[in-house]
Amino acid sequence: MVKSNVYLVTGGAGFIGSHLIDRLLELNLGNVILLDNFNDYYSPLIKQRNVSLLESRHRDRLFDGSFIIIRGDINDLELLKIIFNKYNITHIAHLAALAGVRSSTSQTGKYMEINYNGTQNLLELAASYKITQFVFASTSSVYGQTDILPFIETDSCSKPLSPYAATKRAAEMLAYVYNNMHGLNITILRLFNVYGPRGRPDMMPMKLMQASVDRTYTIDVFDNGEIKRDWTYVDDVIDGFISALKQPLGYEIINIGCGNPIKLSTFIEHIENLSGEDISKRPMKSHKTEPSITYCDNSKARKLLNFSPKTSVREGLEKTWNWFQEEYAVLVSSDDSD
Ligand SMILES: NC(=O)c1ccc[n+]([C@@H]2O[C@H](COP(=O)([O-])OP(=O)(O)OC[C@H]3O[C@@H](n4cnc5c(N)ncnc54)[C@H](O)[C@@H]3O)[C@@H](O)[C@H]2O)c1
Repeated sequence: MVKSNVYLVTGGAGFIGSHLIDRLLELNLGNVILLDNFNDYYSPLIKQRNVSLLESRHRDRLFDGSFIIIRGDINDLELLKIIFNKYNITHIAHLAALAGVRSSTSQTGKYMEINYNGTQNLLELAASYKITQFVFASTSSVYGQTDILPFIETDSCSKPLSPYAATKRAAEMLAYVYNNMHGLNITILRLFNVYGPRGRPDMMPMKLMQASVDRTYTIDVFDNGEIKRDWTYVDDVIDGFISALKQPLGYEIINIGCGNPIKLSTFIEHIENLSGEDISKRPMKSHKTEPSITYCDNSKARKLLNFSPKTSVREGLEKTWNWFQEEYAVLVSSDDSD
């Protein structure tokens, strides 16, 4: 008998997780379980909107029970045991995390608890239930400040700059232990600066778009806009996830990024051109937690996952801006109806 696939997506109400669930359901690859605790790192209402969108797009799947939404915490081991007992989970895409770099400096313990201990809970159950494939969302932040450009997976990554990066690097290493001890198939995807519709409000693209419609908003511009980031459009990132979920590879770490870093000043100009507005800016010295560049060598992803990012920053920002305008209009009109 062919076992049908059951995908557990942790952090499924968040930015990238909600896109992944959308694609998994669209492709009809199997049953999908969304697990998220809707935490208040940013407004839970945004996460609720993401989930409502999924519910309306995939109503039939909700009704036939092949799309299940669970509000719960990856640190609640008893709940996880119930979920694994009840559903024959075959694949895990683990995205639940505290994902902000700067805020990790003031809440290090919380980051350890969720990003490290929470990951350990999932690894333990994944090993006990002998799941087929575990894909973990790690980050380019693990590279820290390095002279090795572009960033390549063989780098030691032994000098993370922030608690966030350290918790992700530690979780990557713990995942290796579970591969070694239990033969669990684990693919670590190191994501580079993901942006797109439903983007996180604490990240630069959404902040810049907000600043272009709200004159009270000022953007901190680090190092005169000289810092560079390898912005990667969310649809391309999801291609990487889908491919990684389909192919158990033992233990692999794979960069998922565009491979085209651009200066912050250029990124800002793109958004000013789209909005036709000058954004209010404040020059700032770069924070200790921020590397001067992120730059992805994606040749391993191209080879193992057939990864081929298709969206240029210009094109990706245009799509994001279009989404933002619709979304912003909705938010403003719902404010008005108070
Ligand atoms: N956005 C990026 O540029 C980027 C870059 C590199 C890595 N990542 C990683 O990708 C993943 C998704 O990031 P995102 O940008 O979509 O962030 P996000 O904050 O939008 O999504 C994370 C989700 O996890 C949920 N969550 C947090 N703690 C939880 C817990 N204890 N139990 C259950 N759910 C919990 C949150 O409610 C949220 O919905 C994260 O692991 C992040 O570290 C993101």
